[in-house]
Amino acid sequence: MAIRKVGVVGCGLMGSGIAQVCAAAGFETVVREVAQELVEKGLKGIEKNLARLVEKGVEKGGIAEATKEEIRGRLKGTTAIGDLRDCDLVIEAIIEQLPAKKELFGSLDKLCPPSTIFASNTSSLTITEIARSTKRPERFVGLHFFNPVPVMKLVEVVRTIATDAVVYEEAMAFGAKLGKTPVRAHDSTGFIVNRLLVPYLLDAIRALEEGVGSIEDIDNSMKLGCGHPMGPLTLLDFVGLDTTYYISQIMYDEFKERRFAAPPLLKRMVLAGWNGRKSGRGFYDYSDPAKAVAMKF
Ligand code: CAA
Repeated sequence: MAIRKVGVVGCGLMGSGIAQVCAAAGFETVVREVAQELVEKGLKGIEKNLARLVEKGVEKGGIAEATKEEIRGRLKGTTAIGDLRDCDLVIEAIIEQLPAKKELFGSLDKLCPPSTIFASNTSSLTITEIARSTKRPERFVGLHFFNPVPVMKLVEVVRTIATDAVVYEEAMAFGAKLGKTPVRAHDSTGFIVNRLLVPYLLDAIRALEEGVGSIEDIDNSMKLGCGHPMGPLTLLDFVGLDTTYYISQIMYDEFKERRFAAPPLLKRMVLAGWNGRKSGRGFYDYSDPAKAVAMKF
């Protein structure tokens, strides 16, 4: 079955990025949010990204104004879940809470024809468990994208023990059509990236707690010593401390290994509402948009 029309549920940071790359890859795309102002906010962000690409110019890897208009023409925002009824693939990118995801897929299962493939962008919940809320676990996969979605080249394509082999290959081909490199991953908590990334990020916090180095020195070490685009503490602020804390709890609960356990400092920062860049403060203070300043603990 050819995927022509894609539904994206959630138009936040991840959902809007996913909708943008789907429309840019030529798919008719409908993105759904619960309120009109959230639809508008998400579409405004996409508009800004596309405008930046037009400004960059085609010769430098950007896009032409006409291409931007074509992409916008393929993209529709909605608050009505019914608008997803004729999608060949629906990708969910809503809040990381199992009950909310199960409720959504329960409704989509009744709405969409049996041929529609369902995918979740969850980073840590079990795909098998989300798929249980539908009568089509064989047509259910994980499509895990990375922030910022238009820039990061990877998509983890996750199969459960129930995923049909043909459906899985369709999902792999879809990831490639988006211009991403799809990697094959089993439905193991954290998949590949977070299995490796989360202990690394948590270890950076432990190194800070134990006084091995300062915030700047830990970040510069991994940036300049290992060629990472961002140091781990900057990356934690970028991903969100609350998000990382939540993922680490799910991973610890699954594996019961210390490397996935949240360090006390992370828990306290989340309790204090220091969730990173989005809240204006994390390991760095973002009050001055021109320069992030390392916090003193
Ligand atoms: N949306 C779209 N484009 C963006 C963007 C955004 N939010 N942020 C940056 N860009 C683009 C810029 O426009 C720029 O494009 P050009 O090269 O075409 O001009 C390019 O990305 C580079 O941006 P900058 O020059 O401003 O800054 P940079 O060189 O530091 O790059 C970065 C920014 C791409 C975010 C880079 O720092 C990076 O790769 N950081 C690591 C990000 C990462 O690890 N993400 C994964 C997090 S884990 C996750 O998402 C999953 C999970 O489950 C937790």
